[in-house]
Amino acid sequence: MPAPDPSETRPTRVWDLPTRLFHWSLVVLVVFNGITGQFAADLGSDWMARHLLSGYAILALILFRLVWGFVGNRHARFAGFVRGPRAVLAYLAALRGRAAAVTHAGHNPLGGWSVMAMLAALTVQVGSGLFLSDEDYGVEAPLAKHVANKTIDLMGSVHEAAFWALLALVATHLAAIAFYRVAKKENLVRPMLTGDKALAGVEAARGGPAWLGALVFALAGCAVWYLVNRI
Ligand code: HEM
Repeated sequence: MPAPDPSETRPTRVWDLPTRLFHWSLVVLVVFNGITGQFAADLGSDWMARHLLSGYAILALILFRLVWGFVGNRHARFAGFVRGPRAVLAYLAALRGRAAAVTHAGHNPLGGWSVMAMLAALTVQVGSGLFLSDEDYGVEAPLAKHVANKTIDLMGSVHEAAFWALLALVATHLAAIAFYRVAKKENLVRPMLTGDKALAGVEAARGGPAWLGALVFALAGCAVWYLVNRI
């Protein structure tokens, strides 16, 4: 196969379909989950039950993403975007320069860590939620019956703290995307919708087929179903 021509940009596959579906489903569910959690007192107990349901769906997405970080296409794999401190510092130095940032095919070294931070905050958020129960709303998450009241109280505080941490991370995420759009003239959102970035001399990322994504997501869903109904 001839080497790609580095002088011409062309639409190049970066984000596989499962990664994009993961992202936009996560956005919808996190917004829904945040609103139903924060405003449960005004919305009523039915909405608290939906808060739990959307939390389980987020857990399935997190499990999916953890596996996809090993079997997705090369930009979805953790090995493809989790970089050491030297790469992050070099990227920061380049970012401070006047020229437009070098377009990275996948997540840039700094963005890679923000992705990991969001996934970690989401895991703590959902993980702590699994231990909560609230008599006022008549809801009990699946692991609450296995722990003492003291643990439930502690998990309640963790759940609240993780919510604010996640909110701060999402605000930073959106600010970074706006920064790239305005200061660096790079539209990061379109590739997350279409899968393709205009790149020069970069080969399209292969792998991460939809059928494998569906299989991994189905297995993640089964694991969450088992946790909620059988443990
Ligand atoms: C609840 C809100 C959000 C959360 C929790 C969230 C989370 C994430 C995560 C985890 C990733 C990594 C994707 C992956 O590799 O699997 C990501 C990437 C991305 N998100 Fe979001 N996101 C949120 C909202 C948004 C919104 C509203 C937009 C668009 C305006 C957006 C645009 C993007 C883009 C463009 C990327 C790719 C960044 C890059 O090129 O490195 N996100 N987001």
